[in-house]
Amino acid sequence: MDVTLNVNDRTEQLRIDPRVTLLDALRDRIQLTGTKKGCDRGQCGACTVHVDGRRVLSCLTLAASVAERPVTTIEGLAPAGSGDRLHPMQQAFIDHDAFQCGFCTPGQIMSAVAVVREGHTGSDAEIRESMCGNICRCGAYDNIVEAIKTAPGVGG
Ligand code: FES
Ligand code: FES
Repeated sequence: MDVTLNVNDRTEQLRIDPRVTLLDALRDRIQLTGTKKGCDRGQCGACTVHVDGRRVLSCLTLAASVAERPVTTIEGLAPAGSGDRLHPMQQAFIDHDAFQCGFCTPGQIMSAVAVVREGHTGSDAEIRESMCGNICRCGAYDNIVEAIKTAPGVGG
């Protein structure tokens, strides 16, 4: 089938099998490999992207189901025209050493941005609860919480 995806403010015309996931379409067809495939079954959060500004697990989302809707991946998080400048959450993760191997980091950052947007930053416990779908095998959780707390606009 023919599908039009709107990814990071660009239009992508794809001919795909209807069973293709958004994750595979992003990685294999559009070469946006920043979004990671961890478990491929909805358990790790590594594949988190935004659709309509809300976080979704792209391994559990069919590409065809998000046709024409705005999809944002880690590559498109920084505002257009900002050159090499990172999104404030990306910078906060660097400033707080919030990654080790980095494999989970794109998904963590996409969720972190959504958590701030959702207003779930009232306490460390609330941040942890809201981020619980994102697993980090390296155990960088403490620094991830610090990064989220101190990202511009969050306070704390
Ligand atoms: S790859 Fe999607 S949740 Fe693990
Ligand atoms: S930094 Fe390695 S899995 Fe999270």
